[in-house]
Amino acid sequence: MLAILNHKGGVGKTTSCLNLASAFADMELRILAVDLDPQAHLTISLGVTDSGLSGVDDIFLKQANGLDLILQVRENLDLLPAGYRLGEVEKLAAQGASKAKILQQALQPLRNQYDMVLIDCPPTSGLLNFNALFAVDEVIIPVSSDYLALHGLSQLLRTLKSAEKFMHKKLVTWIALTRYTMRRRLSRQVRQKLINYFPHQVLSTCIRESAPLAESPSFGKSIFDYSRRSNGAHDYASLADDILYQRVIENQTE
Ligand SMILES: Nc1ncnc2c1ncn2[C@@H]1O[C@H](COP(=O)(O)OP(=O)(O)O)[C@@H](O)[C@H]1O
Ligand SMILES: [Mg+2]
Repeated sequence: MLAILNHKGGVGKTTSCLNLASAFADMELRILAVDLDPQAHLTISLGVTDSGLSGVDDIFLKQANGLDLILQVRENLDLLPAGYRLGEVEKLAAQGASKAKILQQALQPLRNQYDMVLIDCPPTSGLLNFNALFAVDEVIIPVSSDYLALHGLSQLLRTLKSAEKFMHKKLVTWIALTRYTMRRRLSRQVRQKLINYFPHQVLSTCIRESAPLAESPSFGKSIFDYSRRSNGAHDYASLADDILYQRVIENQTE
């Protein structure tokens, strides 16, 4: 199980979750995508637009069974949608750690049915994200290639470290560079800094900035259904391979 996490918004979490889930499903892996963001962007991007739908929210608020909430959205790709009341869940945070394992417990019985579970996390550091960390063993942190990208990243990694201590387990953490503009010096600098600071953790493929990646969700499509020959399709297929084969950037200089 894998969480796509960064407390910063707009870095490509949902775009990565949508397209990685689709890339893996195209490889005939059985995938469950979990939308843990109350904004429900992943749910909508997968073409599920019923605003009264229940999903993860019912797991938290009504102890519902995850299995009853899952929708098949593509061949090999199932979705556990956000649900319209998911925003209320962060308010349970006052009850603290006792609620931190709810998602893990709900997903546990489903594990055998899937080759991989991908969780799209909200841009907050509350109860929902804590639940995601308890449920997974791997984390992908998308980092966008702009000048504030590195800001907050060491804080995030420290948070992950203390979560590991609390949970008594280790997380495998990867960094994926997103929204990359080859010609921009800034993008190249961000990339180089990441490689220097986090050796063996930066996945090989940079996801380039490209319009079709931003357009495809409004059609309820992944990049592979929307524009199979685009840079975005190429990059996300390659990133999916990086994850499967644990391909990272090893060298410290260009
Ligand atoms: N590589 C990319 N190229 C172009 N637009 C992108 C790319 N990645 C993300 N976007 C766009 O940027 C915005 C934020 O991306 P999103 O995946 O929703 O981020 P997050 O889930 O981290 O908030 C969206 O409008 C999305 O379509
Ligand atoms: Mg998002």
